[in-house]
Amino acid sequence: MTLRLDYSNMMISPAGIDEKTWAAAAKQFSAAKQGFEKLRASGSVGFVDLGDDKGLLKQVETYAAAARGKFDDVVILGIGGSALGPIALRTALRPSGWNMLDAKARGGFPRLNVLDNVDPETIAALLGRLRLDRTLFIVTSKSGGTAETMAQFLIVHDRLLSAKLEVSKQMVFVTDPKQGALRPLADRLKVPALDIPPNIGGRFSVLTPVGTLPAALIGIDVKSLLEGAAEMAKRCESAELGANPAGVYGMLQWLADTQLKKSIAVFMPYSDPLRDFAAWFVQLWAESLGKKKPDGTSVGSTPLAALGATDQHAQVQLFMEGPANKTVTFVSVKERSVDVQIPAGFPDVKELGYLTGHSLAELIDIEQRATAGALARRGRPNMTIHLDRVDASHIGQLMMFLELATAYAGQLYGIDAFDQPGVELGKQFAYALLGRPGADAAKKEWESLPKADTRWSV
Ligand code: PA5
Repeated sequence: MTLRLDYSNMMISPAGIDEKTWAAAAKQFSAAKQGFEKLRASGSVGFVDLGDDKGLLKQVETYAAAARGKFDDVVILGIGGSALGPIALRTALRPSGWNMLDAKARGGFPRLNVLDNVDPETIAALLGRLRLDRTLFIVTSKSGGTAETMAQFLIVHDRLLSAKLEVSKQMVFVTDPKQGALRPLADRLKVPALDIPPNIGGRFSVLTPVGTLPAALIGIDVKSLLEGAAEMAKRCESAELGANPAGVYGMLQWLADTQLKKSIAVFMPYSDPLRDFAAWFVQLWAESLGKKKPDGTSVGSTPLAALGATDQHAQVQLFMEGPANKTVTFVSVKERSVDVQIPAGFPDVKELGYLTGHSLAELIDIEQRATAGALARRGRPNMTIHLDRVDASHIGQLMMFLELATAYAGQLYGIDAFDQPGVELGKQFAYALLGRPGADAAKKEWESLPKADTRWSV
């Protein structure tokens, strides 16, 4: 067992979860698990089985093998769930500063750039410095209709044509096998297209070609990533709360929010490779659980990304003495790929001398334990996910663990964790303002809104 959740500091008295509540949670979890398994059995939710999907792995391996050596840069055009997973994988599983290394240090694998916004500054700068004939653009969109991604596609497509390059050689699509505009466009342009299974949405799609294709292209061991995910899915088969790690995590967060009024869920790895992983988790938790229930009640705790030890000097003061409305999830890593000894020096200077003889791995680990202990001492519930190391198998485990925990929490809240109706109105207004056909109702609604009042502007 290589991922372990230590939740002793969630059970602290009197601020944490008491034993009676925890005993009652077993039954609540069993019902939540049953509800989730029903969704799986209906075929509407498919992410749990991705670790064993040999067909998708084959698509990725075949494409990546054929692309080997042809590109210096891979650029993802995608947003939200189409972008955050690949970014997290690159930062976690490739050497530090990957995009700044030379080709030799990258083992001949390309850089990975992710355009997850439509700010012209970034796009113009990136396109300006790329050698287009040595660049592969992955257009990733489950729906095949996201405005930001489609705008990027149009820009890149135009640049490729202007440079007299073959679009089918410089682009690959990752999209739904049947739905959306990208699939027929793939046929029209003869661009290869890899699948996102219909029953897997953006933020649950990192273990589909959304994440695994860019990962394989930059040399990440995708097979181990998926094996890790499958291992965690297996560990979480149990409907017995104490035996299901993702169940425990989802339940603790739900209880903390609904019973202890801890409405902010801080996610704080003590590991630079996991820096971008926290952003991936934030989207997963926020977009899945921030919902209106059928009775109109709003639910969901607010995820907040932090990084140890850096944020000990930025946010921990708030976690320690600010409103007692937070849980903190630490991620601690046992073995790091490298360690650095702190050299001897200045034994007479009290602020320096005591560091001698320790290493940086020791220091960061001790700081994590000290912060967790201090929070508990101040009655601030927290827990620690222990990883033996940050490698493909552990990242696969951690991703599946958090995805399952999110799905279980969705059941406990009584909401659909897999939709995102709340972003629809903003999208419709944007369509109306951009003149997209079919947005007449949104245009009317937009025009009926009160206009900005000059009294309230400085
Ligand atoms: O999690 C989600 O479903 C969203 O964040 C989507 O990933 C995001 O809106 C992009 O959608 P699409 O992949 O359809 O372009």
